[in-house]
Amino acid sequence: MGDEATPFKVMVVEDDEDVARAIARKLGADGHEVEVAREPQSVMARLDNDLADWDVVILDVGLPGMSGIDVLKHFREVDSLASVIMLTGDRTAATATTCMRAGAFYYITKPFEPIELSAIVTSAARHSSLRKELAGVRSVTGRSDDPIETILVGISGAMRKLKAALDRLAEQDVSILIQGESGTGKELVARALHERGARRRKRSVPLNCGAIPESLIDSELFGHVKGSFTGATTDRAGVFVEADGGTLFLDEIGDMPIAVQARLLRVLQESEVRPLGGSGTRKVDVRVIAASHVDLVDAVEHQKFRQDLFYRLNVVALRVPPLRERLDDIPILAAHFLKKHAGAKPPALSPETLEAMSEYGWPGNVRELENSILHALALHRGETISPDALPPAISGRGKGAGSAVATNDDEDELTPLTEAKRRASGAFEKRYLTRVMEKSHGSVSEAARLAGLDRTNFRRLLQRHGIDAVTFK
Ligand SMILES: Nc1ncnc2c1ncn2[C@@H]1O[C@H](COP(=O)(O)OP(=O)(O)OP(=O)(O)O)[C@@H](O)[C@H]1O
Ligand SMILES: [Mg+2]
Repeated sequence: MGDEATPFKVMVVEDDEDVARAIARKLGADGHEVEVAREPQSVMARLDNDLADWDVVILDVGLPGMSGIDVLKHFREVDSLASVIMLTGDRTAATATTCMRAGAFYYITKPFEPIELSAIVTSAARHSSLRKELAGVRSVTGRSDDPIETILVGISGAMRKLKAALDRLAEQDVSILIQGESGTGKELVARALHERGARRRKRSVPLNCGAIPESLIDSELFGHVKGSFTGATTDRAGVFVEADGGTLFLDEIGDMPIAVQARLLRVLQESEVRPLGGSGTRKVDVRVIAASHVDLVDAVEHQKFRQDLFYRLNVVALRVPPLRERLDDIPILAAHFLKKHAGAKPPALSPETLEAMSEYGWPGNVRELENSILHALALHRGETISPDALPPAISGRGKGAGSAVATNDDEDELTPLTEAKRRASGAFEKRYLTRVMEKSHGSVSEAARLAGLDRTNFRRLLQRHGIDAVTFK
């Protein structure tokens, strides 16, 4: 994250001068506006007099004259929109729970990695601007009316890059091909492009190419005239005509039968359609956005997808990264789904729950995350969600969870593809991490650099696979 992060207003309330200075230095270097207070009274006074406009407050639990928890409670009493992150040297779960109950956004134990703090502060600030938007206060930092921001939740580096690309592309009329694993949000990306672009007042018509029987797909695409085949009892316009002036979203384009691909290509080249059984053609003006979870380059190589159509659609290629490559999005996505499914006062996730979620591989991506929140909401008791309310595979109680190593290759029972893939990729990851740690002689920073990951994510991966840096020194 670091340098490219959006600047936010951060208040640090910490009596230990060294700790306060270290935090201020790191967040200052990230480009945030940082203030430091050594005691809580002045902060309380500003809060009471409505002079507090911080996005994030970092609050030490052990403050002079007053417990940080009481300060935190006061923030909640006055309905402050700031996200409060608690700091403490005490590792007990009791303190963590107390903080979360009292309305903390997150809880960090000292000592901590500065980069870990950066990521949490960015999440917390985003959370705060969401709350401000909901409260009707237009945030200074977030553009609350931008469809890209409102449709796509996410603040990770990978997501910000994708959003910047969408921002540049939305106004242009080029064909776009969106690729990404199942559940990563391809459909939402298509929606954001349409809502943000010049055609937003016209329709966006989706067609799931994988869900239509081959015999009907021509008529769905190009339309038919009454009586052109058995069952064609009325005229049908077809999606090209319906989307005229707007956007046609061809979802799961990789599943389109090869014979239909040729006809689709012709329509794209000539910008006109001829309905089945009809004699005339009709000019259409559509922007085509296509999406696929199968790798189309691969499909072209295996003659399952026409190369000429691929080039036609792939004027601009967008890749939606899998969730495991953007773990920083997990807290904010979780908060989004909690609010979506539990209303205004949703329960909070305990720090352990967030921890378990950020150590999981998410083969089903954001869709799986949303389902895990639904699962947790159905099972949890009280105001916080503890890890045991999560599906077993995520909380680490499940068979083979955690270090996902392929161990049952020789078992008779066939594992479902996604699970088999997850295990194989887990095993690959573990071998890769071991190699890179050997190469760097146990230096985590060096190994992270070699792997092209930031240190926090790299550490999480090591932890997930139970790899101890010390053994490589
Ligand atoms: N960035 C995001 N912000 C909010 N919700 C998201 C985000 N990404 C995905 N979702 C939600 O996750 C679910 C899956 O997203 P979507 O249907 O767009 O995935 P997809 O990539 O099209 O998957 P598939 O290949 O299986 O069709 C949807 O309910 C969507 O609303
Ligand atoms: Mg989809």
